Formats: sequence, C-alpha cells, structure tokens
Amino acid sequence: MDKRLYIETVGCQMNVLDSELVASALLERGYELVDRPGRADVILLNTCSVRQRAEDKVYSALGRLKHVKEHNPLVVIGVIGCMAQKDGPLVFRRAPHVDLVVGPSQLGQVPELIEAIAAGAGPQIDISPDRKGESHRDAKRSFLPFDPNRAIEARPAAHQAMVRIMFGCDKFCTYCIVPSVRGPEQSRPMDEIDREVRRLAEQASRLGVALEVTLLGQTVNSYQWRDGGQTWRLADLLARLDGIEGLARLKFVTNYPRHMTDDLLAAVRDLPKVSPYLHVPAQSGSDAVLGRMKRGYTAGEYREMLDRIRRTLPDAAVTSDFIVGFCCETEEDFQRTAALVRDGRFKNSFIFKYSARPGTKAAEQYEDDVPEDVKRRRNNELLAIQNAISEEENRPLVGRTVEVLVEGPSKTSLKRVEAGESTQLVGRTVCDRIVVFQGPQDLTGQLVPVTIRKAGAFTLFGETVDGRQ
Ligand code: 5AD
Ligand code: SF4
Repeated sequence: MDKRLYIETVGCQMNVLDSELVASALLERGYELVDRPGRADVILLNTCSVRQRAEDKVYSALGRLKHVKEHNPLVVIGVIGCMAQKDGPLVFRRAPHVDLVVGPSQLGQVPELIEAIAAGAGPQIDISPDRKGESHRDAKRSFLPFDPNRAIEARPAAHQAMVRIMFGCDKFCTYCIVPSVRGPEQSRPMDEIDREVRRLAEQASRLGVALEVTLLGQTVNSYQWRDGGQTWRLADLLARLDGIEGLARLKFVTNYPRHMTDDLLAAVRDLPKVSPYLHVPAQSGSDAVLGRMKRGYTAGEYREMLDRIRRTLPDAAVTSDFIVGFCCETEEDFQRTAALVRDGRFKNSFIFKYSARPGTKAAEQYEDDVPEDVKRRRNNELLAIQNAISEEENRPLVGRTVEVLVEGPSKTSLKRVEAGESTQLVGRTVCDRIVVFQGPQDLTGQLVPVTIRKAGAFTLFGETVDGRQ
C-alpha cells in the first residue's frame, strides 16, 4: 500500500497535539503528509464534541469524502478523537464509508488498525467503555494517554511545541462532554515531562530557534504527581522546567479558577521563562448560573482570584471563556456576566452559545430554554464589550518595545513571498498578544524586539527596532 496521510483537526489545542502525535507515529512508519484528501491513502478526521456545531462540521466533511471513497475504494477513512468516543458505532451508521473509529485514549492503536483494514479485516473501532459504568480504576486504565516521542516533521513549527501534562477531567461541569470523552483526570510523571521538554529544547537549539512550550491540561493547574511520599504540583513542575537550556518561553492552559493558588502565581512571577499569561475561564458572572453549571465557585470568588492575580502579576494578560444562554439564564444573569467581562479587563475572551450535549447532566436535568436569537444577541453584546476592552488594554503598548517570538509569514503574505524576501511577519509577545510587522523571513523562530506603532483589539502592528525589513 502507498502511504500518504491527510489529517484534519477540529477543536482545541489538545486535539492539535493528538493529531501531531498520530501523524508522527505514521510518519515513522513511512507515511508522508499530503495537503489534500484526494491525494491521500489514509484520511483522518480528528474530531471535537464540545458543541453541536463542531460535530456537524465533521459529519458534513464526511459527506464530502463520500465521493473520494467512490473514486478510490482502497482509501482508508478514519474518524478519531472526542466525537469518535462519543458516537462510537453510530459514526459507521451515519457515514458507512468510514473504515475506522478511534477514541482519544486509543490513538496509539491507529497504525495497527490501519494495517488491519488494508489487509482486508474490514472496519475497525477502538474506543473506551462508558466511564459511568466503570469503577474509577478501570476507567483510568481504559483512558490511557498517548504521548510518544514526536518526529520533528510532524510539528507545524520547530519553535513551538505543546506538551501534555495531564489527561482527562474530573470536574464534570454540567454542560461539558469532556469528562466522558477524555476520561478521568490523570497527570503524567514529572520526569517524563521533563525529558520531553529537554528533547524538544535540544531539537530547537540544533535548528537555532527559540522554543516556546505550552503545557496542556483540561485543568492544567490541578496537575499533581506523587512520588516517594512527595507531591509535586504545577508550580514545582514549572520551576523544574524553567531551568532547561534552549527553552525560551513556557505557558500553560487551561486553568481552573479554584486551583489558582498563591504559590502558582508566585512561580509565574518569579520564574523568568514562564509567560505572565493566564487563561482562566469564568463561564458566567451569575451565581445562579455558576451553581447550575457546578463550577464550584461564585462570581465573587472568581473576582477575588482576579484581584490576587493582579496584585501578584500586575502586567499579566488574563483571558477567559464564557457561555451565554445556558439553561434558565435570565437577562439579569446575563447582565452579571456582562459586568464581569467589563470589570475583569481580560486580554480577550472566547464566547460561546450554550449547546446542549446529550449525556451531560445539564442536557438531562435542565431545559435548553434560551431561544437561539437571544443566545445570539447575548453573544454579540458580550463580544462587543470584550472587543472594546481588548482594544483599550492593547493601546498602552503603542510606543513600547516588546519581545516577539516570530511565528512566520502572516497568512495574507504567505502566498506572495520568495525565500529571503522581506514580508509581513506575525509573532507573539510574552503575554500572547499577536504582533504583525515587516521583516525578513529568516526571523522565523527568533525572539525579536519590536516597537509597537498601532493597536487594534486583536492585533498589534509594529516595526523592528533596528529597522530591518
Ligand atoms: N456549550 C457551549 N460551550 C461549551 N464549552 C464547553 N462545553 C460547552 C457547551 N456544551 C465551552 C466552555 C469551555 C470551552 C472550551 O468551551 O466555555 O471553557
Ligand atoms: Fe469541561 Fe469543566 Fe472539565 Fe473544563 S473543567 S473540561 S469545562 S468539565
């Protein structure tokens, strides 16, 4: 069989990392990556279940792949990740041209399952049993993380890497499907994470680029590793990784408000490589809604946490997620959320319309009773408030010189540049702000001082200090 892989990813950074790991495992077995499904022998869709829209997107992509299969019956079409875990055999029923269904905890099996299909074994499925029906220990065993060493070619950029430090979630917020598709919370051993980051830093040093590592976990700040009677938490892990040579920046997402401890904030303040950037979703500013969501804190407690962050890290960029139109959300509840967005001074917020997920507590216990047009209006209103704040928060940066890790040519300039030419580059500040400026392509992967000349809500525009273009 020829070995050309096309892989498409929907969803969060965890999924982007999973795709990278699966691609890497296949590259090691002789596959090459192609950029169009029509040219591939294996097509994988890595899927998301967090909102209905993400699932609809996958099923319509599968619809489009039908003719690829008709054209080439030997092509292997696989659905992997969260929706594969949630829908299981239903995927085959809705899309009979699919050959493979694999959950996020079985991704290590993908190469063998593809081989079995190519050898004529027929459609294959490998997912975890329903977490509800299992003892905690059995559930943990069936939801095993998959984090092999990665081939550098499988990473989109040598200067950026994601490293999983925990798997799964035990919070069971009532609206959220993640605990049932990603399984119980499990932290990876500290030594293993340390080794992985060292390897990535060595690779980056060899290539002469600065490395930014983003540590990933659904509730990353509840990281906990027990060894020899001692417990190590995220602050300890950060302290250990901070000393790694070749590592330039260290970030971590996503934080759970209740675990934003003082020692973690002190670690962010004191460790030179840790970015003062904290993504801490609030979800709502109303206590009644937060209670129904089972988030485990009140709006007042979230505000107190924000005050603690601002006291310890006055220059930190804080970002949040909000859900509008959750079950029984009144106009008054929504106004409380709007007030939190106003007062929170977030660098940016991701705002979502509530989407009922079958199998979650909210879908079972509460009615999805906020009409779609009300959800849409609240969504737009909150976005407008947040965008005005984002712009205000960016404005003081005008005239200042900031250190930018250059990610590469901006999307608009990508098509036009010849090697070595000056182009529009895009990079990020240490606080995760996007900066666009003119410069030579070979600055990609470098830390560059850039003077900011203009600020919008989403982007800063600047120029290199030495005037290099
Ligand atoms: N509907 C809408 N948004 C959701 N999120 C999680 N579950 C749902 C849902 N059922 C949002 C939360 C979370 C982000 C990743 O997605 O805000 O922080
Ligand atoms: Fe979902 Fe809540 Fe876990 Fe986040 S903390 S993944 S919102 S259950």
